[in-house]
Amino acid sequence: MDTTRLFSLEGRSALITGGSRGIGRMIAEGFLAQGARVYISARKAAACDQTAKELSAFGHCVSLRADVSTLEGAQALVDAYSKHEDTLDILVNNAGAAWGAPYEEFPESGWDKVVDLNLKTPFFLTQALTPMLKKAATDHLAKVINIASIDGISVNPQETYSYAASKAGLIQLTRRMALRLAQDRIVVSAIAPGAFASDMNKVARDHGDEIKGHIPAGRIGEPEDMAGAAIYLASRAGDYVMGSTLIVDGGVTHAR
Ligand SMILES: NC(=O)c1ccc[n+]([C@@H]2O[C@H](COP(=O)([O-])OP(=O)(O)OC[C@H]3O[C@@H](n4cnc5c(N)ncnc54)[C@H](OP(=O)(O)O)[C@@H]3O)[C@@H](O)[C@H]2O)c1
Repeated sequence: MDTTRLFSLEGRSALITGGSRGIGRMIAEGFLAQGARVYISARKAAACDQTAKELSAFGHCVSLRADVSTLEGAQALVDAYSKHEDTLDILVNNAGAAWGAPYEEFPESGWDKVVDLNLKTPFFLTQALTPMLKKAATDHLAKVINIASIDGISVNPQETYSYAASKAGLIQLTRRMALRLAQDRIVVSAIAPGAFASDMNKVARDHGDEIKGHIPAGRIGEPEDMAGAAIYLASRAGDYVMGSTLIVDGGVTHAR
């Protein structure tokens, strides 16, 4: 057994939606450090280009502007990616949105926006990329990693109804798709992050010291925590993890 290569992503291509900042960027940097060619996408081209430029210090990183909230947008991303690569080794469905509002006022727009991007997009983007994932799965397995949330496992007191439902749905979708795609040598799994500093999780970003008392680990998640989990699932090391959701939350779920 050669464990020195177990976590290597040398020669692999990876596409990370929402890779311009936050959790997607943490994963992108980790994949680059393990030798992957990384493609990041986001709606705001300038921010995505800037991140790709910064991450290019660690390896081959390309920015692909795309709005993946619609099927047309997801297909446009597939078309843009296809101009660079013939196959895809690793897809990370990370782009996500949240919406909070009191129960009585919760709007339909806050339902559709969140459920479309967090739940519908991972299904249809993966479906559109399946031929390229299959093509990559020759001597090694191709991977799909869905970024869920601990809010899809235990209940967050915030009134984020569509977010909680979308993430719980994504965790079950991960199981269902894993069973189907195993026959194509594509392994599907998910990560359920706890608190990581980002534009979406401003509390973790701006008040980490105040919330750390509620986290058994005594701190919010760091980029290495997220990169480590994603590298594990993406590499040979995670080949036998199929349909599972890896909780990366410093123990919060067990304490809620
Ligand atoms: N941070 C946390 O504590 C935490 C905890 C649990 C789960 N998560 C999950 O982790 C994922 C990333 O969250 P984050 O905290 O890193 O959020 P973030 O900082 O808001 O980043 C979201 C990323 O997705 C992109 N994006 C948003 N809408 C998009 C769309 N329609 N099409 C393409 N790209 C889009 C954003 O770029 P543009 O705005 O330019 O499009 C950005 O790159 C989400 O699925 C989130 O639910 C986060």
